[in-house]
Amino acid sequence: MMLSIKSVAKNFGGVKAVNKCSFDIEENKITALIGPNGAGKTTLFNIISGLIGIDKGTIKLQNENITNLQPHKIANLGISRTFQLTKVFRNMSIKDNMLLAKHTSEEEIKKILDSVYLHKPLDTFASELSYGQQRLLEIARALLMPHSLLMLDEPTAGVNPKIRQELKLILKNLKKEGKTVLLIEHDMDFVMSVSDTIVVLNQGRVLKIGNPKQVVKDKKVLEAYLGK
Ligand SMILES: Nc1ncnc2c1ncn2[C@@H]1O[C@H](COP(=O)(O)OP(=O)(O)O)[C@@H](O)[C@H]1O
Ligand SMILES: [Mg+2]
Repeated sequence: MMLSIKSVAKNFGGVKAVNKCSFDIEENKITALIGPNGAGKTTLFNIISGLIGIDKGTIKLQNENITNLQPHKIANLGISRTFQLTKVFRNMSIKDNMLLAKHTSEEEIKKILDSVYLHKPLDTFASELSYGQQRLLEIARALLMPHSLLMLDEPTAGVNPKIRQELKLILKNLKKEGKTVLLIEHDMDFVMSVSDTIVVLNQGRVLKIGNPKQVVKDKKVLEAYLGK
């Protein structure tokens, strides 16, 4: 098992943002975390990457307990991620943004940029890129960082249809390479076409776990999405 989440709970004041949440992430699979706004998806990402401490539960990465470790320790143990609101350094070049992830050759940087369909000169400032291209740069940076688990928080949010298609291909290629990915995504078509397993969260709890076919026809899932 790549990641194991057991009975994790996190309250913000009176809000049970994550409530006795348990699920596993299998190696070499793309797992999508979906659910209505406020379901607790981003909170769970922040918990896994150590940005938010938890009240209860355990999180294990390849059987190693990482519960409430500091973010840099968790990153060093092999979790790389992107953010819902992109965090590239706009006043730095593409190359320097990439070098923040790992000190490496231009050759490796170019190879990874190619794999995310970002074909721009390395000295281009991030501020000169479109929003969607900045998101691709952020994914490239997360890919360059040594990792065993890649986590992407809503990669398609705010990007145009062309980049959305490219993101689909990027994920399908990652799957072919046997990468392990945890993805938060709103776009159901996107989720259905790239995921092996879908975890549906609602009000901080796991509502359903299954493959795309099992999830789309589930009554509880439909209710959560259509609203009661
Ligand atoms: N830092 C915080 N302080 C207080 N409440 C928070 C905080 N972060 C998230 N929440 C609340 O926790 C719940 C889950 O939020 P979030 O994880 O952002 O949901 P999602 O990403 O699924 O839309 C929401 O009710 C949200 O308002
Ligand atoms: Mg979110």
